[in-house]
Amino acid sequence: MNRRKTVLITGANRGIGFEAAKELAESGHRVILTARNKEKGIKACENIKGEVIFHLLDVTQSESVERLAKFIGKDIGTIDVLINNAGSMFDPRRFEANPANPLDSSVAILNQTLQLNFVGAYDVTKQILPFMNKKERADIINVSSGMGALHEMGVGTPAYRISKTALNALTKVLTAEFENTDLHINSICPGWVRTDLGGVGATRSLEEGVMGIVWIVNEEPELRGQFIRDKEQLDF
Ligand SMILES: NC(=O)c1ccc[n+]([C@@H]2O[C@H](COP(=O)([O-])OP(=O)(O)OC[C@H]3O[C@@H](n4cnc5c(N)ncnc54)[C@H](OP(=O)(O)O)[C@@H]3O)[C@@H](O)[C@H]2O)c1
Repeated sequence: MNRRKTVLITGANRGIGFEAAKELAESGHRVILTARNKEKGIKACENIKGEVIFHLLDVTQSESVERLAKFIGKDIGTIDVLINNAGSMFDPRRFEANPANPLDSSVAILNQTLQLNFVGAYDVTKQILPFMNKKERADIINVSSGMGALHEMGVGTPAYRISKTALNALTKVLTAEFENTDLHINSICPGWVRTDLGGVGATRSLEEGVMGIVWIVNEEPELRGQFIRDKEQLDF
């Protein structure tokens, strides 16, 4: 660890967000673990050793994001790392081409997915940016997916794919905005991880899934506007 940081994580009561919160808190960082359900969030905190502060956050409710931002301004002050992790897949799970019914996710599913995976991250980032550390290295890590990579776009789950492509665009837009600062914005892909979203058949453990996140927070690699899996750069 380079220095003790304050790390804010969205959707951290289970899955990849929880594992990142756990590993970062247990390695000495101060973690603000957020979740949209108070009981689940507090329970998650109880299962982590180290300094973990719970705050309620539904990333799809702007008032909820505003309440978090007020709390950060009043009680925390500065954030060193923001991890936009909250996300889900609502599409029918189809992984083979079906030209007879290609966009099999409804517009309602598209909207729901974009609200959570993209607009939520946009809103949290916009409202937390004023509190990001401006004196030392700071990071925004967008938990994306290879399924959103344009260079190898595949079939099925169009809403999920498009939401992650949009999240990657947010990484690029912010990187351009903060070019001459010490704020580093990157997307990571955790790989296919055994969580409620990934399913039991996924090939990677939680520990493997958070490797890229933990690396960026602890080792501060000189990366800006990149797409990272583990310690490797992926094509967008
Ligand atoms: N697992 C994989 O194979 C994989 C692969 C590539 C990318 N990812 C990405 O990794 C991230 C985490 O996924 P995961 O696999 O850990 O999924 P997960 O186990 O299903 O966890 C998702 C987390 O997001 C939270 N969440 C859902 N809606 C929310 C909202 N409106 N506001 C705040 N939090 C909300 C959930 O909270 P509740 O418990 O309240 O629902 C939960 O804590 C996602 O962005 C996902 O797209 C995962």
